[in-house]
Amino acid sequence: MHRLSLSSILICIPLATSASSYGSIIDNYEGQYGEAITRDVCVIGGGASGAHAAAPLKDLNKTAVTGTPIDIGVVVSQPLPAVFAFFSKFNVPLLDTSTIVPNAAGQPANKSVPAPWFNTVQVHTDFRDGSAVDIPQDGAAVGLALQGLAAVMSKYAAILNGYEFLPDPVPKDLVLPFGDFMNKYNPTAAIPIVRQIAQGQGDLINIPTLYVIKYFNIGDIAALTQGYLTEAKGNNSLLYTRVAEYLGSGNILFQSTVVSANRQKGNRSQLLVSTPGQDRLKLLSCGQILFTIPPTQANLQGWDLTDEEEAIFAQLTGATGYWTGLAKLNANGKGPGMNQTVTHQNAASTTSSNIPVLPALYGLSPVGVLDDVWWIKFAADTPTLTMIREIQTLQRANNVSVTDPEWLIFDSHSPFMLRARSEDIEKGFYKRLTGLQGSLGGRMFYSGAAYNLDVVTVIPKMMKGSA
Ligand SMILES: *[C@@H]1O[C@H](CO)[C@@H](O)[C@H](O)[C@H]1NC(C)=O
Ligand SMILES: *[C@@H]1O[C@H](CO)[C@@H](O)[C@H](O)[C@H]1NC(C)=O
Ligand SMILES: *[C@@H]1O[C@H](CO)[C@@H](O)[C@H](O)[C@H]1NC(C)=O
Ligand SMILES: *[C@@H]1O[C@H](CO)[C@@H](O)[C@H](O)[C@H]1NC(C)=O
Ligand SMILES: *[C@@H]1O[C@H](CO)[C@@H](O)[C@H](O)[C@H]1NC(C)=O
Ligand SMILES: *[C@@H]1O[C@H](CO)[C@@H](O)[C@H](O)[C@H]1NC(C)=O
Repeated sequence: MHRLSLSSILICIPLATSASSYGSIIDNYEGQYGEAITRDVCVIGGGASGAHAAAPLKDLNKTAVTGTPIDIGVVVSQPLPAVFAFFSKFNVPLLDTSTIVPNAAGQPANKSVPAPWFNTVQVHTDFRDGSAVDIPQDGAAVGLALQGLAAVMSKYAAILNGYEFLPDPVPKDLVLPFGDFMNKYNPTAAIPIVRQIAQGQGDLINIPTLYVIKYFNIGDIAALTQGYLTEAKGNNSLLYTRVAEYLGSGNILFQSTVVSANRQKGNRSQLLVSTPGQDRLKLLSCGQILFTIPPTQANLQGWDLTDEEEAIFAQLTGATGYWTGLAKLNANGKGPGMNQTVTHQNAASTTSSNIPVLPALYGLSPVGVLDDVWWIKFAADTPTLTMIREIQTLQRANNVSVTDPEWLIFDSHSPFMLRARSEDIEKGFYKRLTGLQGSLGGRMFYSGAAYNLDVVTVIPKMMKGSA
Protein backbone atom coordinates (compact mmCIF):
# COMPACT_ATOMS: atom_id res chain seq x y z
CA MET A 1 0.00 0.00 0.00
CA HIS A 2 1.16 3.52 -0.49
CA ARG A 3 -0.28 6.56 1.08
CA LEU A 4 -1.44 9.53 -0.88
CA SER A 5 0.68 12.37 0.25
CA LEU A 6 2.27 15.09 -1.73
CA SER A 7 5.10 12.68 -2.41
CA SER A 8 3.28 9.86 -4.11
CA ILE A 9 4.89 8.20 -7.06
CA LEU A 10 3.69 9.03 -10.52
CA ILE A 11 4.54 8.14 -14.04
CA CYS A 12 2.80 10.50 -16.32
CA ILE A 13 4.72 10.88 -19.50
CA PRO A 14 5.05 7.30 -20.59
CA LEU A 15 6.26 7.93 -24.12
CA ALA A 16 9.60 9.21 -22.99
CA THR A 17 11.84 7.69 -25.63
CA SER A 18 10.82 9.50 -28.77
CA ALA A 19 12.99 12.58 -28.38
CA SER A 20 15.77 11.42 -30.67
CA SER A 21 13.50 11.22 -33.69
CA TYR A 22 13.15 15.00 -33.57
CA GLY A 23 16.86 15.60 -33.89
CA SER A 24 18.93 17.89 -31.72
CA ILE A 25 17.58 20.68 -29.55
CA ILE A 26 16.55 23.56 -31.72
CA ASP A 27 16.39 27.18 -30.72
CA ASN A 28 13.65 28.16 -33.04
CA TYR A 29 10.65 25.90 -33.38
CA GLU A 30 9.32 27.68 -36.46
CA GLY A 31 7.46 25.23 -38.66
CA GLN A 32 7.78 22.38 -36.17
CA TYR A 33 4.42 22.66 -34.51
CA GLY A 34 0.72 22.96 -35.18
CA GLU A 35 -0.94 24.61 -32.22
CA ALA A 36 0.79 27.02 -29.82
CA ILE A 37 -0.45 27.16 -26.24
CA THR A 38 0.51 29.91 -23.79
CA ARG A 39 0.17 29.36 -20.06
CA ASP A 40 1.47 30.93 -16.86
CA VAL A 41 2.49 27.55 -15.52
CA CYS A 42 3.10 24.22 -17.20
CA VAL A 43 2.90 21.29 -14.81
CA ILE A 44 4.81 18.27 -16.07
CA GLY A 45 3.17 15.15 -14.71
CA GLY A 46 -0.39 14.48 -13.68
CA GLY A 47 -0.12 12.06 -10.79
CA ALA A 48 -0.63 13.02 -7.18
CA SER A 49 1.93 15.84 -7.16
CA GLY A 50 0.86 17.28 -10.47
CA ALA A 51 -2.82 17.15 -9.56
CA HIS A 52 -2.19 18.68 -6.14
CA ALA A 53 -0.30 21.53 -7.73
CA ALA A 54 -2.48 22.21 -10.75
CA ALA A 55 -5.75 22.65 -8.84
CA PRO A 56 -4.54 25.41 -6.47
CA LEU A 57 -2.74 27.09 -9.38
CA LYS A 58 -6.05 27.28 -11.18
CA ASP A 59 -7.58 28.80 -8.03
CA LEU A 60 -4.88 31.46 -8.12
CA ASN A 61 -6.05 32.24 -11.65
CA LYS A 62 -2.82 30.89 -13.10
CA THR A 63 -3.51 29.05 -16.30
CA ALA A 64 -1.84 25.67 -16.33
CA VAL A 65 -1.40 22.64 -18.50
CA THR A 66 -0.47 19.30 -17.13
CA GLY A 67 0.30 15.74 -18.16
CA THR A 68 -1.71 12.59 -17.68
CA PRO A 69 -3.43 11.68 -14.45
CA ILE A 70 -2.41 8.05 -13.98
CA ASP A 71 -2.17 6.45 -10.60
CA ILE A 72 -3.40 2.95 -10.07
CA GLY A 73 -1.26 2.41 -7.02
CA VAL A 74 -2.44 4.82 -4.38
CA VAL A 75 -4.72 3.01 -2.00
CA VAL A 76 -4.73 4.92 1.26
CA SER A 77 -3.93 8.35 2.60
CA GLN A 78 -2.84 9.37 6.03
CA PRO A 79 -5.52 11.38 7.85
CA LEU A 80 -3.79 14.73 7.28
CA PRO A 81 -5.68 18.05 7.03
CA ALA A 82 -4.41 18.50 3.45
CA VAL A 83 -5.93 15.17 2.45
CA PHE A 84 -9.34 15.98 3.96
CA ALA A 85 -9.28 19.38 2.28
CA PHE A 86 -8.30 18.04 -1.12
CA PHE A 87 -10.90 15.25 -1.21
CA SER A 88 -13.60 17.58 0.07
CA LYS A 89 -12.76 20.24 -2.52
CA PHE A 90 -13.55 17.68 -5.22
CA ASN A 91 -16.52 16.27 -3.37
CA VAL A 92 -14.97 12.81 -3.14
CA PRO A 93 -16.28 10.98 -0.07
CA LEU A 94 -13.76 9.45 2.33
CA LEU A 95 -13.88 6.34 4.43
CA ASP A 96 -11.93 6.02 7.67
CA THR A 97 -10.45 2.55 7.36
CA SER A 98 -10.57 1.99 11.11
CA THR A 99 -14.37 1.78 10.80
CA ILE A 100 -14.18 -1.14 8.35
CA VAL A 101 -15.30 -4.44 9.84
CA PRO A 102 -13.26 -6.98 7.92
CA ASN A 103 -14.34 -10.53 7.22
CA ALA A 104 -12.82 -13.19 9.47
CA ALA A 105 -9.60 -14.57 7.99
CA GLY A 106 -10.36 -17.74 6.03
CA GLN A 107 -13.88 -16.54 5.13
CA PRO A 108 -14.90 -15.12 1.73
CA ALA A 109 -14.67 -11.35 1.10
CA ASN A 110 -17.46 -8.94 2.02
CA LYS A 111 -18.15 -7.28 -1.35
CA SER A 112 -19.27 -4.04 0.32
CA VAL A 113 -15.78 -3.48 1.68
CA PRO A 114 -12.97 -2.03 -0.51
CA ALA A 115 -10.85 -4.86 -1.87
CA PRO A 116 -7.61 -4.00 -0.02
CA TRP A 117 -9.41 -4.79 3.25
CA PHE A 118 -10.12 -8.39 2.29
CA ASN A 119 -8.77 -10.22 5.32
CA THR A 120 -6.94 -13.47 4.60
CA VAL A 121 -4.93 -16.12 6.37
CA GLN A 122 -1.29 -15.01 6.10
CA VAL A 123 1.41 -17.55 5.45
CA HIS A 124 5.09 -17.05 4.66
CA THR A 125 6.44 -18.98 1.73
CA ASP A 126 9.83 -19.02 0.05
CA PHE A 127 8.78 -18.36 -3.55
CA ARG A 128 12.03 -19.85 -4.86
CA ASP A 129 10.95 -23.38 -3.94
CA GLY A 130 7.47 -23.11 -2.43
CA SER A 131 8.59 -24.16 1.04
CA ALA A 132 6.86 -22.79 4.13
CA VAL A 133 8.92 -20.35 6.19
CA ASP A 134 8.21 -20.15 9.88
CA ILE A 135 8.31 -16.55 11.08
CA PRO A 136 7.16 -16.38 14.69
CA GLN A 137 4.25 -13.93 15.03
CA ASP A 138 4.78 -12.10 18.29
CA GLY A 139 2.31 -9.22 18.32
CA ALA A 140 3.67 -7.78 21.57
CA ALA A 141 7.25 -7.72 20.24
CA VAL A 142 6.10 -6.03 17.02
CA GLY A 143 4.15 -3.42 19.00
CA LEU A 144 7.18 -2.63 21.15
CA ALA A 145 9.41 -2.49 18.08
CA LEU A 146 7.05 -0.03 16.38
CA GLN A 147 7.07 2.15 19.50
CA GLY A 148 10.87 2.05 19.56
CA LEU A 149 10.99 2.92 15.88
CA ALA A 150 8.55 5.82 16.36
CA ALA A 151 10.74 7.21 19.15
CA VAL A 152 13.84 7.26 16.91
CA MET A 153 11.88 8.57 13.92
CA SER A 154 10.51 11.47 15.95
CA LYS A 155 14.05 12.91 16.14
CA TYR A 156 13.93 13.30 12.37
CA ALA A 157 10.30 14.36 11.94
CA ALA A 158 11.32 17.57 10.15
CA ILE A 159 12.27 15.66 7.00
CA LEU A 160 8.64 14.69 6.47
CA ASN A 161 8.10 18.26 5.28
CA GLY A 162 10.66 17.79 2.55
CA TYR A 163 14.32 17.11 2.00
CA GLU A 164 14.98 20.82 2.29
CA PHE A 165 14.58 20.31 6.06
CA LEU A 166 17.33 17.70 6.25
CA PRO A 167 19.68 18.81 9.06
CA ASP A 168 23.15 20.01 8.04
CA PRO A 169 25.39 18.10 8.54
CA VAL A 170 23.21 15.12 7.69
CA PRO A 171 22.85 12.87 10.78
CA LYS A 172 24.74 9.60 10.42
CA ASP A 173 21.59 7.61 11.30
CA LEU A 174 19.88 8.77 8.13
CA VAL A 175 22.59 7.50 5.81
CA LEU A 176 23.03 4.13 7.53
CA PRO A 177 21.65 1.19 5.56
CA PHE A 178 18.20 0.59 7.05
CA GLY A 179 19.17 -2.87 8.34
CA ASP A 180 22.09 -1.36 10.32
CA PHE A 181 19.83 1.40 11.64
CA MET A 182 17.33 -1.18 12.89
CA ASN A 183 20.09 -3.25 14.50
CA LYS A 184 21.46 -0.16 16.21
CA TYR A 185 18.11 0.77 17.82
CA ASN A 186 16.89 -2.80 18.06
CA PRO A 187 13.35 -2.57 16.61
CA THR A 188 14.09 -5.33 14.05
CA ALA A 189 10.80 -7.07 14.86
CA ALA A 190 9.09 -4.20 12.99
CA ILE A 191 10.87 -4.94 9.70
CA PRO A 192 8.16 -7.26 8.28
CA ILE A 193 5.49 -4.56 8.86
CA VAL A 194 7.67 -1.85 7.32
CA ARG A 195 8.18 -4.14 4.36
CA GLN A 196 4.50 -4.81 3.93
CA ILE A 197 3.17 -1.28 4.37
CA ALA A 198 5.98 0.49 2.55
CA GLN A 199 5.95 -2.00 -0.28
CA GLY A 200 7.95 -1.29 -3.38
CA GLN A 201 11.26 -0.59 -1.70
CA GLY A 202 12.71 -3.93 -2.73
CA ASP A 203 15.82 -4.74 -0.75
CA LEU A 204 15.01 -2.21 1.98
CA ILE A 205 17.67 -3.54 4.37
CA ASN A 206 20.41 -2.08 2.19
CA ILE A 207 19.01 1.32 1.24
CA PRO A 208 19.76 4.52 3.19
CA THR A 209 17.50 4.89 6.24
CA LEU A 210 16.41 8.35 5.11
CA TYR A 211 14.29 6.86 2.33
CA VAL A 212 12.72 4.12 4.39
CA ILE A 213 11.62 6.37 7.26
CA LYS A 214 10.24 9.00 4.93
CA TYR A 215 8.11 6.42 3.17
CA PHE A 216 7.10 4.47 6.28
CA ASN A 217 6.87 7.25 8.84
CA ILE A 218 5.37 8.22 12.18
CA GLY A 219 2.09 8.96 10.44
CA ASP A 220 1.94 5.36 9.25
CA ILE A 221 2.62 4.02 12.73
CA ALA A 222 -0.28 6.14 14.03
CA ALA A 223 -2.53 5.17 11.11
CA LEU A 224 -1.88 1.47 11.73
CA THR A 225 -3.95 1.83 14.87
CA GLN A 226 -6.05 4.93 14.11
CA GLY A 227 -6.89 4.13 10.50
CA TYR A 228 -6.05 5.52 7.08
CA LEU A 229 -8.41 7.26 4.69
CA THR A 230 -9.58 5.86 1.41
CA GLU A 231 -12.22 6.83 -1.13
CA ALA A 232 -15.59 5.67 0.26
CA LYS A 233 -15.89 2.84 -2.26
CA GLY A 234 -12.15 2.29 -2.59
CA ASN A 235 -12.11 3.93 -6.04
CA ASN A 236 -9.30 6.45 -5.87
CA SER A 237 -9.41 7.14 -9.60
CA LEU A 238 -12.56 9.16 -8.87
CA LEU A 239 -10.36 11.87 -7.36
CA TYR A 240 -8.26 12.13 -10.53
CA THR A 241 -11.34 12.22 -12.74
CA ARG A 242 -12.78 15.07 -10.67
CA VAL A 243 -9.49 16.99 -10.70
CA ALA A 244 -9.29 16.57 -14.47
CA GLU A 245 -12.87 17.87 -14.86
CA TYR A 246 -12.03 20.82 -12.64
CA LEU A 247 -8.97 21.74 -14.68
CA GLY A 248 -10.84 21.30 -17.95
CA SER A 249 -9.79 19.27 -20.97
CA GLY A 250 -8.12 22.26 -22.63
CA ASN A 251 -5.67 22.34 -19.77
CA ILE A 252 -4.55 18.73 -19.86
CA LEU A 253 -2.42 17.01 -22.47
CA PHE A 254 -2.87 13.31 -21.82
CA GLN A 255 0.03 10.93 -22.39
CA SER A 256 2.19 13.59 -23.87
CA THR A 257 5.94 13.72 -24.24
CA VAL A 258 8.22 16.73 -24.12
CA VAL A 259 10.37 16.12 -27.19
CA SER A 260 12.38 19.31 -26.85
CA ALA A 261 12.71 22.09 -24.33
CA ASN A 262 14.10 25.58 -24.73
CA ARG A 263 14.26 27.15 -21.31
CA GLN A 264 17.54 29.00 -21.31
CA LYS A 265 16.88 31.76 -23.83
CA GLY A 266 14.34 34.57 -23.55
CA ASN A 267 12.07 35.15 -20.58
CA ARG A 268 9.62 32.32 -21.17
CA SER A 269 10.25 28.61 -21.54
CA GLN A 270 9.17 26.74 -24.62
CA LEU A 271 8.30 23.08 -24.70
CA LEU A 272 7.68 21.14 -27.87
CA VAL A 273 5.24 18.40 -26.99
CA SER A 274 3.99 15.34 -28.79
CA THR A 275 0.48 14.16 -27.93
CA PRO A 276 -1.00 10.83 -28.97
CA GLY A 277 -3.15 10.68 -32.07
CA GLN A 278 -2.00 14.07 -33.38
CA ASP A 279 0.27 14.51 -36.38
CA ARG A 280 1.67 17.83 -35.34
CA LEU A 281 3.54 18.79 -32.23
CA LYS A 282 2.25 21.45 -29.86
CA LEU A 283 4.34 24.37 -28.69
CA LEU A 284 3.86 25.33 -25.06
CA SER A 285 5.03 28.75 -23.99
CA CYS A 286 5.32 28.62 -20.20
CA GLY A 287 5.93 31.41 -17.73
CA GLN A 288 7.00 28.81 -15.19
CA ILE A 289 7.44 25.06 -15.22
CA LEU A 290 6.62 22.74 -12.34
CA PHE A 291 8.33 19.43 -12.98
CA THR A 292 6.74 16.60 -10.95
CA ILE A 293 7.87 13.39 -12.67
CA PRO A 294 10.95 11.38 -11.71
CA PRO A 295 14.03 13.09 -13.20
CA THR A 296 15.36 9.99 -14.91
CA GLN A 297 17.43 10.01 -18.07
CA ALA A 298 14.48 8.66 -20.04
CA ASN A 299 12.15 11.39 -18.75
CA LEU A 300 14.73 14.11 -19.39
CA GLN A 301 15.71 13.14 -22.91
CA GLY A 302 14.29 16.15 -24.68
CA TRP A 303 15.24 18.68 -21.99
CA ASP A 304 17.93 21.33 -22.31
CA LEU A 305 19.56 20.56 -18.98
CA THR A 306 21.95 23.01 -17.41
CA ASP A 307 25.29 21.61 -16.19
CA GLU A 308 24.05 21.89 -12.61
CA GLU A 309 20.79 20.03 -13.34
CA GLU A 310 22.67 17.34 -15.19
CA ALA A 311 25.24 16.90 -12.40
CA ILE A 312 22.56 16.72 -9.72
CA PHE A 313 20.18 14.34 -11.48
CA ALA A 314 23.09 12.05 -12.36
CA GLN A 315 23.50 11.41 -8.63
CA LEU A 316 20.06 9.83 -8.39
CA THR A 317 21.54 6.44 -9.14
CA GLY A 318 19.32 4.14 -7.07
CA ALA A 319 15.74 3.16 -7.81
CA THR A 320 13.60 0.14 -7.30
CA GLY A 321 11.61 -1.41 -10.08
CA TYR A 322 7.99 -1.98 -9.08
CA TRP A 323 5.30 -3.56 -11.21
CA THR A 324 1.74 -4.07 -10.09
CA GLY A 325 -1.22 -5.77 -11.66
CA LEU A 326 -4.09 -8.20 -11.44
CA ALA A 327 -4.12 -11.67 -12.96
CA LYS A 328 -6.48 -14.59 -13.16
CA LEU A 329 -4.49 -17.62 -12.10
CA ASN A 330 -6.76 -20.46 -13.11
CA ALA A 331 -8.18 -19.03 -16.29
CA ASN A 332 -8.87 -22.34 -18.04
CA GLY A 333 -10.71 -23.60 -14.96
CA LYS A 334 -9.21 -27.10 -15.25
CA GLY A 335 -8.64 -28.63 -11.85
CA PRO A 336 -8.46 -26.71 -8.59
CA GLY A 337 -6.97 -23.23 -8.21
CA MET A 338 -5.10 -21.69 -5.30
CA ASN A 339 -7.04 -21.29 -2.05
CA GLN A 340 -8.56 -17.82 -2.30
CA THR A 341 -8.60 -17.12 1.40
CA VAL A 342 -4.83 -17.38 1.83
CA THR A 343 -2.14 -14.74 1.18
CA HIS A 344 1.38 -15.97 0.62
CA GLN A 345 4.02 -13.45 1.69
CA ASN A 346 7.31 -14.08 -0.05
CA ALA A 347 9.96 -14.70 2.63
CA ALA A 348 13.38 -16.08 1.84
CA SER A 349 14.30 -18.74 4.40
CA THR A 350 18.00 -17.91 4.24
CA THR A 351 18.35 -14.10 4.25
CA SER A 352 18.50 -11.40 6.90
CA SER A 353 14.95 -10.56 8.07
CA ASN A 354 13.74 -13.04 5.40
CA ILE A 355 13.88 -10.33 2.71
CA PRO A 356 13.45 -12.02 -0.70
CA VAL A 357 16.30 -11.95 -3.18
CA LEU A 358 15.31 -9.71 -6.11
CA PRO A 359 13.85 -9.94 -8.66
CA ALA A 360 10.91 -11.43 -6.80
CA LEU A 361 7.20 -11.16 -6.15
CA TYR A 362 6.40 -9.42 -2.87
CA GLY A 363 3.60 -11.84 -2.32
CA LEU A 364 0.58 -13.43 -3.90
CA SER A 365 -2.80 -12.43 -2.53
CA PRO A 366 -6.37 -13.00 -3.69
CA VAL A 367 -8.47 -9.87 -4.29
CA GLY A 368 -11.46 -11.67 -2.82
CA VAL A 369 -14.15 -9.65 -4.59
CA LEU A 370 -13.45 -11.21 -8.02
CA ASP A 371 -13.21 -14.95 -8.48
CA ASP A 372 -9.66 -16.27 -8.86
CA VAL A 373 -8.12 -12.83 -9.40
CA TRP A 374 -4.86 -12.11 -7.60
CA TRP A 375 -2.74 -9.04 -6.86
CA ILE A 376 0.63 -9.39 -8.55
CA LYS A 377 3.36 -7.11 -7.16
CA PHE A 378 6.77 -7.64 -8.62
CA ALA A 379 10.07 -6.06 -7.63
CA ALA A 380 12.28 -5.76 -10.71
CA ASP A 381 13.26 -3.18 -13.29
CA THR A 382 11.49 -5.08 -16.03
CA PRO A 383 9.02 -7.94 -15.76
CA THR A 384 10.78 -11.26 -16.23
CA LEU A 385 9.86 -14.91 -16.40
CA THR A 386 10.85 -15.14 -12.73
CA MET A 387 7.45 -13.72 -11.92
CA ILE A 388 5.58 -16.46 -13.74
CA ARG A 389 7.91 -19.17 -12.45
CA GLU A 390 7.30 -18.06 -8.87
CA ILE A 391 3.53 -18.19 -9.34
CA GLN A 392 3.84 -21.67 -10.83
CA THR A 393 6.19 -22.79 -8.03
CA LEU A 394 3.45 -21.84 -5.56
CA GLN A 395 0.80 -23.63 -7.61
CA ARG A 396 2.93 -26.78 -7.64
CA ALA A 397 3.63 -26.58 -3.92
CA ASN A 398 -0.11 -26.27 -3.29
CA ASN A 399 -1.00 -29.20 -5.56
CA VAL A 400 -3.23 -27.09 -7.85
CA SER A 401 -3.26 -26.71 -11.65
CA VAL A 402 -0.13 -25.06 -13.00
CA THR A 403 -1.29 -22.34 -15.40
CA ASP A 404 -0.12 -19.30 -17.32
CA PRO A 405 -1.59 -16.24 -15.64
CA GLU A 406 -4.14 -14.26 -17.63
CA TRP A 407 -3.28 -10.59 -17.12
CA LEU A 408 -6.17 -8.22 -16.47
CA ILE A 409 -3.93 -5.24 -15.89
CA PHE A 410 -0.22 -4.89 -15.39
CA ASP A 411 1.63 -1.62 -15.11
CA SER A 412 4.94 -0.17 -14.14
CA HIS A 413 5.45 1.98 -11.08
CA SER A 414 9.13 2.14 -11.92
CA PRO A 415 11.36 3.89 -11.20
CA PHE A 416 10.11 3.67 -7.65
CA MET A 417 11.84 5.97 -5.19
CA LEU A 418 14.85 7.51 -6.91
CA ARG A 419 17.74 7.56 -4.48
CA ALA A 420 21.12 9.15 -4.04
CA ARG A 421 23.98 7.23 -2.45
CA SER A 422 24.72 7.74 1.25
CA GLU A 423 28.05 9.44 0.53
CA ASP A 424 26.43 11.93 -1.84
CA ILE A 425 23.66 12.65 0.68
CA GLU A 426 26.37 13.39 3.28
CA LYS A 427 28.11 15.70 0.82
CA GLY A 428 24.98 17.82 0.52
CA PHE A 429 23.11 16.25 -2.40
CA TYR A 430 19.72 17.45 -1.14
CA LYS A 431 20.98 20.97 -0.55
CA ARG A 432 22.01 21.13 -4.20
CA LEU A 433 18.73 19.57 -5.32
CA THR A 434 16.75 22.11 -3.28
CA GLY A 435 18.89 24.83 -4.85
CA LEU A 436 17.27 24.07 -8.21
CA GLN A 437 13.99 25.44 -6.86
CA GLY A 438 13.34 28.72 -8.62
CA SER A 439 16.34 28.35 -10.92
CA LEU A 440 16.52 29.78 -14.45
CA GLY A 441 15.43 33.14 -13.14
CA GLY A 442 12.47 31.91 -11.08
CA ARG A 443 11.03 29.84 -13.91
CA MET A 444 11.85 26.27 -12.93
CA PHE A 445 10.27 24.47 -9.96
CA TYR A 446 10.07 20.90 -8.76
CA SER A 447 7.80 18.75 -6.66
CA GLY A 448 7.15 15.04 -6.52
CA ALA A 449 8.68 12.05 -4.84
CA ALA A 450 12.29 12.46 -5.91
CA TYR A 451 12.50 15.98 -4.53
CA ASN A 452 9.87 15.67 -1.86
CA LEU A 453 9.33 19.34 -2.09
CA ASP A 454 5.82 19.85 -0.95
CA VAL A 455 3.51 21.85 -3.27
CA VAL A 456 2.23 23.64 -0.17
CA THR A 457 5.66 25.25 0.14
CA VAL A 458 6.56 25.24 -3.55
CA ILE A 459 3.55 27.20 -4.84
CA PRO A 460 4.20 30.31 -2.70
CA LYS A 461 7.81 30.20 -3.90
CA MET A 462 6.61 29.97 -7.48
CA MET A 463 4.41 33.01 -7.01
CA LYS A 464 7.31 34.93 -5.55
CA GLY A 465 9.56 33.76 -8.38
CA SER A 466 7.15 35.13 -10.96
CA ALA A 467 6.75 38.53 -9.32
C1 LIG B 1 -9.61 34.52 -9.68
O1 LIG B 1 -10.58 35.02 -10.58
C2 LIG B 1 -11.90 34.94 -10.06
C3 LIG B 1 -12.87 35.30 -11.17
O2 LIG B 1 -12.38 36.35 -11.93
C4 LIG B 1 -12.00 35.84 -8.84
O3 LIG B 1 -13.30 35.76 -8.29
C5 LIG B 1 -11.00 35.38 -7.82
O4 LIG B 1 -10.98 36.25 -6.70
C6 LIG B 1 -9.59 35.32 -8.39
N1 LIG B 1 -8.71 34.68 -7.42
C7 LIG B 1 -7.51 35.18 -7.11
C8 LIG B 1 -6.72 34.40 -6.09
O5 LIG B 1 -7.05 36.16 -7.64
C1 LIG C 1 -8.44 -22.61 2.41
O1 LIG C 1 -7.76 -22.04 3.49
C2 LIG C 1 -8.56 -21.86 4.65
C3 LIG C 1 -7.75 -21.07 5.66
O2 LIG C 1 -6.54 -21.70 5.93
C4 LIG C 1 -9.01 -23.21 5.16
O3 LIG C 1 -9.82 -23.05 6.29
C5 LIG C 1 -9.77 -23.93 4.06
O4 LIG C 1 -10.08 -25.24 4.47
C6 LIG C 1 -8.95 -24.00 2.79
N1 LIG C 1 -9.78 -24.51 1.70
C7 LIG C 1 -9.42 -25.55 0.97
C8 LIG C 1 -10.37 -25.94 -0.12
O5 LIG C 1 -8.38 -26.15 1.15
C1 LIG D 1 -20.22 -6.20 4.94
O1 LIG D 1 -19.83 -4.85 5.06
C2 LIG D 1 -20.92 -3.97 5.22
C3 LIG D 1 -20.36 -2.54 5.11
O2 LIG D 1 -19.35 -2.32 6.06
C4 LIG D 1 -21.59 -4.27 6.55
O3 LIG D 1 -22.69 -3.39 6.72
C5 LIG D 1 -22.07 -5.72 6.56
O4 LIG D 1 -22.59 -6.06 7.81
C6 LIG D 1 -20.92 -6.65 6.22
N1 LIG D 1 -21.42 -7.99 6.05
C7 LIG D 1 -20.96 -9.02 6.77
C8 LIG D 1 -21.55 -10.34 6.45
O5 LIG D 1 -20.09 -8.87 7.61
C1 LIG E 1 -14.21 4.52 -10.46
O1 LIG E 1 -14.30 5.87 -10.86
C2 LIG E 1 -14.17 6.10 -12.25
C3 LIG E 1 -14.33 7.56 -12.53
O2 LIG E 1 -13.46 8.27 -11.82
C4 LIG E 1 -15.26 5.37 -13.01
O3 LIG E 1 -15.04 5.53 -14.41
C5 LIG E 1 -15.23 3.90 -12.64
O4 LIG E 1 -16.32 3.26 -13.25
C6 LIG E 1 -15.31 3.71 -11.15
N1 LIG E 1 -15.17 2.31 -10.83
C7 LIG E 1 -16.05 1.66 -10.10
C8 LIG E 1 -15.75 0.21 -9.88
O5 LIG E 1 -17.01 2.21 -9.62
C1 LIG F 1 10.24 39.32 -22.24
O1 LIG F 1 10.91 39.42 -23.46
C2 LIG F 1 10.21 40.20 -24.44
C3 LIG F 1 10.94 40.09 -25.76
O2 LIG F 1 12.32 40.08 -25.57
C4 LIG F 1 10.09 41.64 -23.94
O3 LIG F 1 9.36 42.42 -24.86
C5 LIG F 1 9.36 41.61 -22.60
O4 LIG F 1 9.32 42.92 -22.06
C6 LIG F 1 10.04 40.70 -21.62
N1 LIG F 1 9.17 40.56 -20.44
C7 LIG F 1 9.67 40.58 -19.22
C8 LIG F 1 8.63 40.43 -18.11
O5 LIG F 1 10.84 40.67 -18.95
C1 LIG G 1 0.70 -31.76 -1.94
O1 LIG G 1 0.79 -33.14 -2.18
C2 LIG G 1 1.88 -33.76 -1.50
C3 LIG G 1 1.95 -35.22 -1.98
O2 LIG G 1 0.67 -35.79 -1.98
C4 LIG G 1 1.67 -33.64 0.01
O3 LIG G 1 2.75 -34.20 0.70
C5 LIG G 1 1.56 -32.18 0.39
O4 LIG G 1 1.24 -32.03 1.76
C6 LIG G 1 0.48 -31.50 -0.43
N1 LIG G 1 0.55 -30.07 -0.17
C7 LIG G 1 -0.53 -29.33 0.06
C8 LIG G 1 -0.28 -27.87 0.35
O5 LIG G 1 -1.65 -29.78 0.06
